[in-house]
Amino acid sequence: MFDLIIRNGTLVTSAGRQKLDIAVKDGRIAALGEGNAQAAARVVDAAGLYLLPGLMDTHVHFRDPGLTQKEDFATGSRAALYGGMTYVVDMPNVKPVTSTAERLRARTERARREASLEIGFFALLTADNLEEMDALKQAGAVGFKIYLGTSVGEIAAPPDGVMLEQFRRAARLGMRIGFHAENNAINDYYTALEQAAGCTDPGALIRARPDFSEEEAVCKAIAYARETGAAIHIYHVSSGKTVDRIREAKAEGIDVTAETCPHYLFLDQADYKRLGVLLKVYPTVKTQWDKEKLWAGLADGTIDMIATDHAPHLPQEKQGGLWEAMAGVAGVEISARLMLDAVNRGRLTLEQLAAWMSENPARIWGLKERGTVKSGQPANLTAVDLSRRGVIHNARLHGKTNVTAFDGVETIGAPVFSVTGGKLFEIPLK
Ligand code: DOR
Ligand code: ZN
Repeated sequence: MFDLIIRNGTLVTSAGRQKLDIAVKDGRIAALGEGNAQAAARVVDAAGLYLLPGLMDTHVHFRDPGLTQKEDFATGSRAALYGGMTYVVDMPNVKPVTSTAERLRARTERARREASLEIGFFALLTADNLEEMDALKQAGAVGFKIYLGTSVGEIAAPPDGVMLEQFRRAARLGMRIGFHAENNAINDYYTALEQAAGCTDPGALIRARPDFSEEEAVCKAIAYARETGAAIHIYHVSSGKTVDRIREAKAEGIDVTAETCPHYLFLDQADYKRLGVLLKVYPTVKTQWDKEKLWAGLADGTIDMIATDHAPHLPQEKQGGLWEAMAGVAGVEISARLMLDAVNRGRLTLEQLAAWMSENPARIWGLKERGTVKSGQPANLTAVDLSRRGVIHNARLHGKTNVTAFDGVETIGAPVFSVTGGKLFEIPLK
């Protein structure tokens, strides 16, 4: 007898759609096909629903340990589950930073105890941990992260010589390095100019951290990858120029992959007026032109995936002056809804959604037995209803602080249930 059968759903992958039943036993997919007669402890009717390979968010900040007033493994993973996610990868800018194998193991163990879904981790590369890279891989790091420019947490880039060696080491280890790509000197210079001029209009943020800051840093990462053969990834691409540089590097044969986030795809300069410092994120949300370039980059495969950069802060940290407010917005619980709403508006297909939010992140980060739906592998699925309507209310979300940039936004299309390692999670309509 099966533990679970999901009947009458339509499986959607980048390869197309197929109506079928999916049977689950002992956490794994036991049978795939139509009209399976065998009994199951639980039968779910998914008629009218689309079944996607388990959605994942490979860029979250669950703030655990050290900043757990903003989020922790329990609350972050709960928000992820309510958002239809089946797996997330967490960032190393916690306290202390995740730069040693010992800290990575401690986080992994704590997450296993506290979280309601599996969490992977990026390991931070610093000036001092070149010799730790093998051990970090051994400890299970999904990839390495380098902050080329400082962001929240004020983490400095390794000196260029050390970094070049880190690229070589990563190439040898077969591990991808992801980049927060901004240029500090450019950001510091223009931020000081804007502050000295007394500018506090939200547009000042874009001038303080301009698109060239990202482009320059991306070009540097690409140059090091060209030199060393390392595989690289650009986190949260925000600008159109960067899309062009990544497209050129891919054409040249460099193993560079990229992600962007819902706030860059659905918001732009004009929204600062309405949202003010709520829209403060690093890198900055830019212009309508950049937004359209990001969509075009996704469509032609230059940008490979969507992640949220889920970066929760306390409500009081997201208020006040433009220069004082913290950068970052929560997102892990709402990205599937926002993207499904965009499916309904014709901006992408469900097949693309499956690729951008499951298949490609799994392939790029080497996540075994994820991103596909195959007999024998762990059962990870997200069922979505394209007609499910709702309004995003920060106050009804399930993280610890839930300050998003989309409060009050109506969406059509939402996840209805997920299966995570065989476990069914029903997402109530709210
Ligand atoms: O806006 C941001 N917030 N950008 C980042 O890169 C980090 C993040 C955070 O950790 O709050
Ligand atoms: Zn981030």
